[in-house]
Amino acid sequence: MHIAVWGCGYLGTTHAAAMAELGATQVTGVETHPTRLAALQRGQVPFHEPGLAELLTCHLDSGVLHFTDDIIEAVSADIHFLCVGTPQQLDSPLCDLSQIDAAVTSICSVLQPGSIVVGKSTVPVGTAERLQPSITAAGGHLVWNPEFLREGTAVADSLRPDRVVIGSAQPGDSASRTVAALYPTTEGGDIPVVWCDLATAELVKTAANTFLAMKISFVNALSELCDATGGDVVTLADALGLDSRIGRRFLNAGIGFGGGCLPKDLRAFGARATELDVSELGELTDVVDRINQRARRRAVDKVIAGLHRGGLTVSEATVVMLGASFKPDSDDVRDSSALVVADHLTAAGAVVRVVDPVATSDSQTIGDDVDEALSGADVVVLATEWAPYVALDPVKAARLMRHRIAVDGRNMWNPTQWRDTGFDFTGMGRN
Ligand code: UGA
Repeated sequence: MHIAVWGCGYLGTTHAAAMAELGATQVTGVETHPTRLAALQRGQVPFHEPGLAELLTCHLDSGVLHFTDDIIEAVSADIHFLCVGTPQQLDSPLCDLSQIDAAVTSICSVLQPGSIVVGKSTVPVGTAERLQPSITAAGGHLVWNPEFLREGTAVADSLRPDRVVIGSAQPGDSASRTVAALYPTTEGGDIPVVWCDLATAELVKTAANTFLAMKISFVNALSELCDATGGDVVTLADALGLDSRIGRRFLNAGIGFGGGCLPKDLRAFGARATELDVSELGELTDVVDRINQRARRRAVDKVIAGLHRGGLTVSEATVVMLGASFKPDSDDVRDSSALVVADHLTAAGAVVRVVDPVATSDSQTIGDDVDEALSGADVVVLATEWAPYVALDPVKAARLMRHRIAVDGRNMWNPTQWRDTGFDFTGMGRN
């Protein structure tokens, strides 16, 4: 089976490597961005993703996988995967679908009759229906198979997904079954396959990300209630999560969600729902987004309040932000809550020292030496829960810092331990 993967950003690169690992005889990654293409051809992954470089190198070396910008090399593909980006438009909450449209035009120009085009990119519902006529006219079959991989665990998520969703105009048709057979769904029979229409397949992805965002904003609103009442949001989330109908995952309160997916998918989902006259859903996603912005602002307020309790003002303070990426095990800083908090504090007049093991950014200088950053600082903020930052010893931090103020933006530190070391300690909804 020859597989072409169109668009080798985060999703496409991971998917191409996974397809090679899962047994495709030939995988052609089509990438037009020259720097990214050159890196991939050398076996370098242009972003941080544990285990991906090894998988890539293994299949480049075996000759199964290769990357190109020449679309003619995809001409003999049996299956074309659409993996291009669908970023938020600059001046609207809607997705920019120009890369999808361009890729479909290219695919149709090389498509062999009978081959299959599979949408993996995250798109607003109705996109597949709009694309279908041109693919059908070129002799292809359209299937929608959304991707659920998470940054940091993308390789494992691709090789062993929780579920495989396969949408097509005739659910369960032969093109759908060919796509399903690419995944280890039948081996042991423990990965469920959902056969559905195109619209449902598109909706599963955007609704899942919206639901996850909603869960996080719900617990962040609860954490504010806990701040107001002396409750403890971690215990509250534990107790809520013991109800199997609710579940504990994605109930970690903190400085909010970020990244290239949840924030933009939430906004695009709400905007599309409003376009389709389901305006309450648009209002709901709006509130979820506002709670998320508020979680970031609350972290800034906690830093300033800690400084005031210590008799300091923000303009004379040095604040250390531990973490810049939107989550640990990733170098992605798109819409990162950590950087938004850092930017707010900088705007308020603080000297902000950001450290991160791998991330870089245009808005903040990012170092990686925690001891150096803590030396002479007044406040330390846990912004991204990288393991070494979670394990930071308060005794050591106290020795290095000028003042002892700590804000745990991820509710990972032990409040008693930090307070016993003399810190003015604040969490996000912790007593
Ligand atoms: C998300 C989804 O989880 C994936 O299923 C989906 O495939 C992917 O988007 C995508 O659309 O491509 P990802 O962006 O890698 O994956 O990140 P998540 O693990 O969902 O985390 C998103 C944000 O939520 C992070 O900033 C994280 O810190 C925050 N978060 C997560 C919380 O604040 N609290 C939690 O309890 C969980």
